[in-house]
Amino acid sequence: MAFRLIDLPYADTALDPAVSSETLSYHHGKHHQAYVDKTNDAIDGTAHADKPLEDIIAAARGSNQGLFNNSAQSWNHGFYWHSMTGNETQPSDELKAMIEEAFGSVDKLKEELKSRGAGHFASGWVWLAEKGGKLSVEETHDGDTLADSDFNPLLTIDVWEHAYYLDHQNARPKYLEGVTGDKLNWKFASDNLARGTTWTYPK
Ligand code: FE2
Repeated sequence: MAFRLIDLPYADTALDPAVSSETLSYHHGKHHQAYVDKTNDAIDGTAHADKPLEDIIAAARGSNQGLFNNSAQSWNHGFYWHSMTGNETQPSDELKAMIEEAFGSVDKLKEELKSRGAGHFASGWVWLAEKGGKLSVEETHDGDTLADSDFNPLLTIDVWEHAYYLDHQNARPKYLEGVTGDKLNWKFASDNLARGTTWTYPK
């Protein structure tokens, strides 16, 4: 069964002004769609055709760079759409306590996400992730992902230029300021932490 482009979990104006509807129309409707289409083309008629996306990513890692890039980018973007929201949310008590232990406060975590995101060289992803009961900010380059890692990813921010160039041109810090300001979906992060296993891309 082919993977589908998952719907945005909000109206395309919900993330204004951090991420505009114009950016979403290209980023979701063109970029993410292309990653999903290329993944489906690559697995059609193969042993991967009916596997979960996470298994395909793991199988392709290190052995099939084209399929890895497209399957990982399909997963990363699905996870990214859910990592943001237009309705401000708060971390659960459990997540808030772990953030305070690891970073000092939610605001200090936001500063860490902004500085790691701004400093990330070229394209990639910045993550809030959990492993062994501890939180950390992680970075992956290009299309790399935490989907098949031993981290439980809680949130991610896309720092590829296509995520912000239409809205903020080269000012990646302005995009990061907007996303971390009031658009991060702490409910999604709290649910990911409480579940204790990595989010799965819907079939
Ligand atoms: Fe992207």
